[in-house]
Amino acid sequence: MNEYRYQHCIVRTPSHSCLEGITTSAFLGKVDYENAIRQHEAYIRALEQTGVRVKVLPAREEFPDSCFVEDVAVITPYGAIVTNPGAPSRNGEKEAIIPALKEFFPEEKIYYLQNPGTMDGGDVLLIENCYYVGISRRTNVDGFCQFREIVRGFGMDAVAVPVTDILHLKTGVVYVGEGRVLISGEFIRRPEFDGFEKFEVPEEEAYGANIIRMNGKIIVASGYPSVSRKLREWGYDIIETDTSEYKKIDGGLTCLSLRF
Ligand code: GLY
Repeated sequence: MNEYRYQHCIVRTPSHSCLEGITTSAFLGKVDYENAIRQHEAYIRALEQTGVRVKVLPAREEFPDSCFVEDVAVITPYGAIVTNPGAPSRNGEKEAIIPALKEFFPEEKIYYLQNPGTMDGGDVLLIENCYYVGISRRTNVDGFCQFREIVRGFGMDAVAVPVTDILHLKTGVVYVGEGRVLISGEFIRRPEFDGFEKFEVPEEEAYGANIIRMNGKIIVASGYPSVSRKLREWGYDIIETDTSEYKKIDGGLTCLSLRF
C-alpha cells in the first residue's frame, strides 16, 4: 500500500507568554524564550526535510499554549475537525486556527465540535482507518461521540481509550506504521493496543515516545537514545530535533504542528 503523502504543515510561532503555558512539569524550570524560538525554527526545518510546505502563523500572546496547534484541530483525509479544547485558557485558540484552515479547506469540509463536548487533538491518534481517542482531562465522552459521528460519516471509525496518568493519549502512545507502536506507562497494558508490535519506552525516556512519521521519515525528539536506537533497528530514517523547551510546558513533537 502506498504511504499517504503529506504536503502541508501548520505551526504557530510561540508567544512570549508561553512561559506561562500550562504545565505539570514545573520542576524542569521556566521556558527560555530565545531557545524556544531556536528550537521552533529547527523543528520547522525538520518538518521541511520530509518534503512538506510549512505555513507559520503569527504568535498570539493572549494564548500562552497556542504554539501547540495540534490540539485545536484534527485534520482527516476528508476535512478538518475544529476541536473544542478542554482547558479554559486554551478554548479560544480554536477561533484563531479557523482562518488558516479556510486557506486549505472549503467551508463544507470544516466540522466543529460543540459544547458540552471537549477535545484536544493531542488525544487523537490515527491508526490506519481508525481514530483512537483518549478520554482525558481535556477530551470528554461527549466530544468523543461527536467526533466519532463525523468520522463515521467519512467511512472511518473511532474508539475511546481512557487516559488517567498523563496529559494526552499521544503523550504515551504513537503509531509508527507497519503495525508498530511506541508505547509507555499506562498504555502498555491497555487491550486496545494488543495486536500491535510494541516498543515499550522506558519510563525515563517516556517523553521520546511522541514521534512524527511523515513521508517515509520519522522525526524524533533528541535525547531519547533507546527510541532512536529502536527506530533505526526497525530500519527507519530518522531526523532528531530538540524540543526540550516545550517539554517544560508539557508539549511534545506532535503538539507543535498540524500535518496533512
Ligand atoms: N501546555 C500544554 C497543554 O497543557 O495543553
